[in-house]
Amino acid sequence: MGLKTQFSLFAPMKSTTRFLLLTSSLLLLTCATHVTSVTTCPPCGNTTVPFPLSTTATCGDPLYKIRCSSTGTLIFDTLNNSYPIESIDPKTQRLVIQPAPLIPNTCITTDKVHQGIQLNNSLPFNITSSNTIVYLNCTLLLLQSPLNCSSSSLCHSYINATASVSTCQSGPVCCTFRTGGSSTSYMIRVRDVGCSAYSSFVNLDWALPVDRWSRPGLEIQWQSPRETVCGSQTDCDSATSTCREDGFSSNGIRRCFCNGDLLWDPIHGVCTQTQL
Ligand SMILES: *[C@@H]1O[C@H](CO)[C@@H](O)[C@H](O)[C@H]1NC(C)=O
Ligand SMILES: *[C@@H]1O[C@H](CO)[C@@H](O)[C@H](O)[C@H]1NC(C)=O
Ligand SMILES: *[C@@H]1O[C@H](CO)[C@@H](O)[C@H](O)[C@H]1NC(C)=O
Ligand SMILES: *[C@@H]1O[C@H](CO)[C@@H](O)[C@H](O)[C@H]1NC(C)=O
Ligand SMILES: *[C@@H]1O[C@H](CO)[C@@H](O)[C@H](O)[C@H]1NC(C)=O
Ligand SMILES: *[C@@H]1O[C@H](CO)[C@@H](O)[C@H](O)[C@H]1NC(C)=O
Ligand SMILES: *[C@@H]1O[C@H](CO)[C@@H](O)[C@H](O)[C@H]1NC(C)=O
Repeated sequence: MGLKTQFSLFAPMKSTTRFLLLTSSLLLLTCATHVTSVTTCPPCGNTTVPFPLSTTATCGDPLYKIRCSSTGTLIFDTLNNSYPIESIDPKTQRLVIQPAPLIPNTCITTDKVHQGIQLNNSLPFNITSSNTIVYLNCTLLLLQSPLNCSSSSLCHSYINATASVSTCQSGPVCCTFRTGGSSTSYMIRVRDVGCSAYSSFVNLDWALPVDRWSRPGLEIQWQSPRETVCGSQTDCDSATSTCREDGFSSNGIRRCFCNGDLLWDPIHGVCTQTQL
């Protein structure tokens, strides 16, 4: 009888414990989902930070790291330098950075010490083919290059019509080109044996007079993000995805692959019912 009482006392306690454990593990699961599955980053100042761009290790996709400065400006880091982000278009997976300014009273951009804009080619960002680059204060060597460095090159109109680059009028050669070749996918090179300054314009209509050009910018695109990397199922949203080995890579990486008919939506970072 004593044993029975003990047992009956024990049994409800056990199920309470079980209930508590279940509740807390559900809570843990919920927390884990929020931390490790796709979470869009909070705004930086007034600027929305769309997926997969990531301002902290726990939001977005950390491979797509950018920075939010203390003044609420988004910053794009290159290998040795950083540039303010002017705009972001998550639908086209592109962002525009502000090119480096000239060192005052010179025709040398402040990033010449870093050899211009140099992207890390191991990261999922590259320079789009929508940029018109004007190279300023170039050496005569550039006349041998495939760039348009002729006396009718657009860069001359730009220099003539732009007060802020009047220091570049003395440069022996200037050149104009459109990005897009493999040599400009990850860099806009600035150096002594080439050109000492540059500017860049996105989707520039070459027929427009210079006073109607938009402000300088360099457009960069990012690759579509893959499914979120997971260690175990708790890292995935169990309702929509399953943690399993990535068939495309043999290095044992696991990802949250979408369940059933659901499709991975790389724009929003979710498994979704609707066709993209
Ligand atoms: C950001 O938002 C604050 C508060 O709404 C506003 O005062 C400020 O002007 C905004 N800044 C920009 C750059 O839009
Ligand atoms: C043009 O570039 C050269 C080489 O870097 C530099 O010595 C010269 O000062 C530059 N010209 C101007 C006007 O800054
Ligand atoms: C970039 O930084 C690395 C390490 O700090 C340095 O070794 C390299 O020379 C730098 N490159 C340029 C172009 O500044
Ligand atoms: C380039 O990016 C890769 C991948 O994140 C990183 O491992 C590497 O250290 C970066 N290289 C430099 C020079 O910063
Ligand atoms: C250089 O650009 C100018 C202005 O766009 C153009 O008229 C000229 O034909 C170009 N020259 C070469 C060699 O492409
Ligand atoms: C730029 O100005 C120089 C000097 O005034 C002039 O010779 C040249 O024709 C102008 N070039 C263009 C493209 O406006
Ligand atoms: C740049 O990135 C885009 C988008 O991921 C890709 O389609 C393109 O092939 C890349 N270009 C180069 C030269 O790597």
